[in-house]
Amino acid sequence: MNIWASAEFDDHEQVCFFSHAETGLRAIVAIHSTARGPAAGGTRFKPYDSDDLALDDALRLSRAMSYKSALAGLPVGGGKSVIIGDPAQLKSRDLLHAFGRYIDRIGQTYATGEDVGMSVADIETINEVTPYVGGTSTGAGDPAVHTATGVIHGLRAVLEHQFDRDSFSGLKVAIQGLGAVGWGIAERLDAAGAKLVVADVRAEQVERARAQFGAVECPTERIHEAEVDIYAPCALGGVISERTAAEVRARAVAGSANNQLTTPAAGIALAARGILFAPDYVINAGGIISGAAATSRMPGRAKANFAPLEEGLAAIRERLTEVFERSTAEGRPPEATAEVMARELIGR
Ligand code: NAI
Repeated sequence: MNIWASAEFDDHEQVCFFSHAETGLRAIVAIHSTARGPAAGGTRFKPYDSDDLALDDALRLSRAMSYKSALAGLPVGGGKSVIIGDPAQLKSRDLLHAFGRYIDRIGQTYATGEDVGMSVADIETINEVTPYVGGTSTGAGDPAVHTATGVIHGLRAVLEHQFDRDSFSGLKVAIQGLGAVGWGIAERLDAAGAKLVVADVRAEQVERARAQFGAVECPTERIHEAEVDIYAPCALGGVISERTAAEVRARAVAGSANNQLTTPAAGIALAARGILFAPDYVINAGGIISGAAATSRMPGRAKANFAPLEEGLAAIRERLTEVFERSTAEGRPPEATAEVMARELIGR
């Protein structure tokens, strides 16, 4: 791979390769930008088909963290780690400690936290050897709760821009995935009078939603084409392709899942059909907003100013409104506008 010239590299400030043969640790830490402050971004532990794909993932995810924190108005930069391997086989206390000692070396510029393949308990194990981690059980609390609150603020921007209304009452919303975030969104929307259509591979979650909210069940493979006002992907990424974009019947797609669009063309296809897309890293920033203030209290770090949590979460609505209005004015899909805005904020 020609790293410097690759599209994913995008002038990353620092990329570290860490290895510890004794425990089998092979990790990549990518730091995209510290223009707004020390970088933050979780650690993903999973097998990759090749080292190139692992590097690509780290670079892509760390840039996304730069964009997410910048658009959330945080004095925080973007970074991300990947540990290569099957966590079920490879993860051990010694490996997490070895990783933590490496993170400690770069702790002035980067702090890590949970992502796919890592639990709160794993983060606490890493925390035994370095203070440069966020998301422990004594920290800001479950980020999913704040992510759900942030998505509701974002949905209010969607209501105003696309539906010219300010109430959820009677609005039909399809929620794909009733996990930590999706369930929180369902509770809040139900309380605000919305009608819910839901899908989850876990039948017991769907049953609970039927009993608690009077939600209507939809097969998981058809939820994107449900006859609703808003489709909220809250499970996996990659749910909007050019094909599925043509099948969406909602007038807006807005949910917590990361990387909802498979390609830029998928976003263009939504926009061409008049369907409003809320860029995922703008609407799902509640988790990082809730955890970010703790990073400025880490040893040796300069104090930075953070808005109170509720204010920070509420700002998601204003930021999305700005994205939508600028996107309309400039004739670009919202995700393209959000990227331009994020790059302006990090001085690129
Ligand atoms: P989770 O793992 O608690 O929930 C995911 C839910 O989706 C589970 O109930 C699962 O059974 C369901 N699911 C899996 N495959 C499905 C399918 N094919 N169709 C329908 N349902 C399916 O995850 P969580 O934390 O709720 O996150 C949801 C999404 O939001 C993820 O994409 C995550 O990356 C993103 N996100 C989460 C944040 C957080 O604070 N937890 C922050 C930002 C983004």
